[in-house]
Amino acid sequence: MEPALTQPKPFCIIKNLHILFHGKPVLQDINLTLTDCGITVLVGASGSGKTTFLRALNRLNEYYPGYSASGQIELALSGTMENIYQTDLQVTELRRRVGMVFQSPNVLPVSIAQNINLPLKLVTGLDRKKREERLVEVLQEVHLWNEVKDRLKTKASHLSGGQQQRLCLARVLALQPKILLLDEPTASLDFKASGRIEELLLELQHRYRIIAVSHSLRQARRIAGQILVMKEGRIEHLLKKDQFENSEMLQQLLEEFL
Ligand SMILES: Nc1ncnc2c1ncn2[C@@H]1O[C@H](COP(=O)(O)OP(=O)(O)O)[C@@H](O)[C@H]1O
Ligand SMILES: [Mg+2]
Repeated sequence: MEPALTQPKPFCIIKNLHILFHGKPVLQDINLTLTDCGITVLVGASGSGKTTFLRALNRLNEYYPGYSASGQIELALSGTMENIYQTDLQVTELRRRVGMVFQSPNVLPVSIAQNINLPLKLVTGLDRKKREERLVEVLQEVHLWNEVKDRLKTKASHLSGGQQQRLCLARVLALQPKILLLDEPTASLDFKASGRIEELLLELQHRYRIIAVSHSLRQARRIAGQILVMKEGRIEHLLKKDQFENSEMLQQLLEEFL
């Protein structure tokens, strides 16, 4: 067989990661290398540590009382891999490059336009004209532009749940992240709105590295390039597409873990 011309590139290397809250282990002994092969989807029972895992990647756990951790995380944030705990990067810059979208849309209590404009102004220092250009670009990128272009000044909270979640995604994309973390981004949405987000993620995977928690193995199977299975704070499996396309194996996982 011909050797592959290009090896998939690692973009996340985790070594001996342990995270505790008030001395209680929440993530244990995580050793993992993620390479570019589509969306990485994280599944596991409630309380298994999925959200904590995502928050480790942009150092969001540090906000919570009782947090302690050991180990190392390297991410591809520029041309090279950087240790996120030792880099010269400010935490705010790390969080810009590793953007996060949460389970329920958390739009800001301002207009649709200001939801994009305010964070852009605060973080990037772009001038007004550039910010307006970026606003149009990202609203187009999440396929929201045609739906909102005539009412950019109305409150974002008046949008439907699915539109709000796409706006939250646009707000993160406006800051030009390298990695996107999505914590059950469709959990609060109906079937149709979830489907639109799934389609969008399948497009975005070509431009961003995406790690998404999913509450549904079916959804994971539809969108994932690889699936991480968490159990009690540990990564039990890293499944590649040829493994989880086998429905028997998936069924077994369903019974075992979820
Ligand atoms: N900020 C925190 N303070 C204390 N305990 C936490 C905190 N965050 C998570 N935990 C605990 O860690 C475990 C895993 O939580 P989480 O990562 O939210 O799991 P999942 O997202 O898989 O449901 C739970 O037992 C939860 O109570
Ligand atoms: Mg969670």
